[in-house]
Amino acid sequence: MPFLSSSEGANTTYKSHAKKCMFLFALARISSTTNSFVPVALQSRKLNSSNIASYSKVNRIRNFATMNAAEINTKAKFVSTSPQAIEEAGARLRSGHLVSFPTETVYGLGCHAIDPMAVSRVFEAKERPLTDPLIVHVNECEAALKLWNASANGTDGEIEQEALKALTKEFWPGPLTIVAKASPEIPDIIMANTGFVACRSPSHPIARALIGASGVPIAAPSANKFGHVSPTKAQHVMDDLCMEDVWIVDPDMEKESSSDEHVICDVGVESTVAKVEMLSTSKGRVSILRHGAVSSMEIATCLEKAGLSESFEVKEKMQATGEEVSHVAPGQTIRHYSPNVLSYMVSQERYSNGDIELSDEELNLLKNAVVIDFGKRLSSFKDKALAYKDLSAVGDSNVAAAQVFDTLRWSENIDGAERVFFPEIVVNEDQMIKKEDALILAVKDRLTRAASGVVIETLQ
Ligand code: TXA
Ligand code: MG
Repeated sequence: MPFLSSSEGANTTYKSHAKKCMFLFALARISSTTNSFVPVALQSRKLNSSNIASYSKVNRIRNFATMNAAEINTKAKFVSTSPQAIEEAGARLRSGHLVSFPTETVYGLGCHAIDPMAVSRVFEAKERPLTDPLIVHVNECEAALKLWNASANGTDGEIEQEALKALTKEFWPGPLTIVAKASPEIPDIIMANTGFVACRSPSHPIARALIGASGVPIAAPSANKFGHVSPTKAQHVMDDLCMEDVWIVDPDMEKESSSDEHVICDVGVESTVAKVEMLSTSKGRVSILRHGAVSSMEIATCLEKAGLSESFEVKEKMQATGEEVSHVAPGQTIRHYSPNVLSYMVSQERYSNGDIELSDEELNLLKNAVVIDFGKRLSSFKDKALAYKDLSAVGDSNVAAAQVFDTLRWSENIDGAERVFFPEIVVNEDQMIKKEDALILAVKDRLTRAASGVVIETLQ
């Protein structure tokens, strides 16, 4: 796998109180397990955690918290959201350097999208494989329509243009990324040589101010190290990228106390990714490559309203849980969003009969395990686990989505945590099409990836 090499060694140190550059350590295991771990784990969906542990040797190094803060020399720095700071950050982007900024979904790691050198800096900082393309962020629909080339597929492009206009008008600014044929000016590196470019117009005022100040389209993946949990706070970005030459826009910087902290990325999970492509001169397809806050139902309704339902089919292109999906959306590999602790989903069969009876071995395991629940499915573990949090006790997927990444990062910081358990989330057909439940698919998807798709029947 063409990983760009890390410029930093794994013995780098950082502050202990939550400001840890923990991902430098975790990275070793991601690089070494990404290829080998996934296929083995996914051949069998019903496993127990012991037989998984035998082949998913995670080289967790848990002593970094004790290292001396004075030894560290971080490159990354926080910057404020004052008008002057935003202007300076915009100029920095324009000149080919990196700025991480909040969006309504997650923090992005931004660079000048039309500058291949700047784009390569993002891949390097994230240690992201070059096969995983980036999303270009713009403020106005017109800017995206220029980056797409709707006539590049040999048709007159009219219907495709109509679909792109309808979708951008309906959902932008907001958490929908649209992938379509790219115009020739787009650097190949952004598209991973696919000829298709992804664009999105974020609604977050800071993201919009920064894009405006830069005056250029901004390519921005989530601002985490590749394979780690996506960031929803400035500190999450610092935890992963402290050794990179990046400015991190932090709206809380000027706050008097940390108790003033407020939710910055209020959706909390990444945008829905929809690919628009023509199959012939008159027929096209919209494929949903990643679940986010915009549902496939809403997309179909939008096309219908635009009189395009005869011309476009809308298809979920997500693979069933547990399959390798990189051929669907490059980068949508199952091993994604992983906390730095072995993570598993407890099967629905196991928890659906109310109180879960646990063997002595399972009780012992729970003592060193963190439970991240959803809708009280695993509430009987609460008093037996090392730590327990419910993403939303009432099962509200909006609330759960806003919490999920922060909670995954919380779990890996619990002292003594050896495993993390989540409930398997089963979504029925009716729920899948309802607008208000778009985010339950997103939460299910993120937890499934965090557990590498592994569902277990027994904890030991
Ligand atoms: O909400 C979001 O989308 C955030 C914020 C920062 O905007 N960004 C984000 O970027 O999640 P990233 O790079 O972490 O995820 C982008 C996803 C990947 O799964 C990638 O494979 C897919 O979009 N993607 C990007 N360009 C594509 C293309 N040309 N064809 C197919 N999939 C593409
Ligand atoms: Mg990402």
